[in-house]
Amino acid sequence: GSSYQHILTEKKGAKQNVALITLNRPKALNALCDALVTELGDAVEKFDRDESIGAVVITGSEKAFAAGADIKEMQNTTFSSNIRLRLLEHWSKISQCKKPIIAAVNGFALGGGCELAMMCDIIYAGDKANFGQPEILIGVVPGAGGTQRIARSCGKSKAMEMCLTGNRITAAEAEKMGLVSKVFPAGELLSEAIKLGEKIASQSPLIAQLAKECVNVAFETSLQEGLRFEKKMFYAAFATEDQKEGMKAFVEKRAPNFKNN
Ligand code: CAA
Repeated sequence: GSSYQHILTEKKGAKQNVALITLNRPKALNALCDALVTELGDAVEKFDRDESIGAVVITGSEKAFAAGADIKEMQNTTFSSNIRLRLLEHWSKISQCKKPIIAAVNGFALGGGCELAMMCDIIYAGDKANFGQPEILIGVVPGAGGTQRIARSCGKSKAMEMCLTGNRITAAEAEKMGLVSKVFPAGELLSEAIKLGEKIASQSPLIAQLAKECVNVAFETSLQEGLRFEKKMFYAAFATEDQKEGMKAFVEKRAPNFKNN
């Protein structure tokens, strides 16, 4: 991981099975420049393929998770260069990760920072975190999923209010509207996120991957299609050794020993 310039990577947890990626561009409040996002995508992909890893945590600093895409880098691009150079397209690598990803958000999660958090599967926030889509204040609309993911997870009124005013919301508000699942004192956030990662990593990674895929289908298709997909995945789980082990362990009143098989 030492080859990265804008991020830090390490393995955490008693079993070293949780990957921690720390955004580390403090002078720009972790503004998500092209190079940072390229490194982040690379690190996520490597951990996704690393069989020792069961969950990934992405965090920033106490002051900023990330203050958005890098405005200075985008300031003078044009419609045609955005198309030619596929501006922000490589961000989707993060949402392509098959393993569960947790965002641990302290400080600012604005614009692309809020969008990056929403690309993760679970958001935990520190009590001083704040979230917003301030793009409208600088003459653009969100470009990495903000309008779509807030609308889908929190409804139209909240999405409209955030995207039309650029107003920031507090961690408490974000929890109330379902954007984040839990809020912790800032200093405890990271250890709680890693603890959650360890809990997830203690399950069958294979089944965790199926569960993630099932929930994601809920955001992409009709209820009937989603229910059909879920049922197929439920049936498919019975083709794994981990299902046999999980149910056997329950009946024998012992902890399961999942093999990722
Ligand atoms: N891009 C580039 N640089 C940024 C940045 C960003 N998004 N956010 C902060 N910085 C830089 C500042 O330019 C400043 O650098 P200098 O010292 O070289 O001037 C440094 O980080 C510290 O920032 P501030 O002095 O502004 O810090 P502050 O504490 O006074 O304010 C803030 C913090 C409210 C987060 C403010 O920095 C801010 O409003 N940032 C921009 C937020 C924003 O508009 N984000 C959306 C970007 S567009 C986008 O993300 C598109 C998309 O959908 C993908």
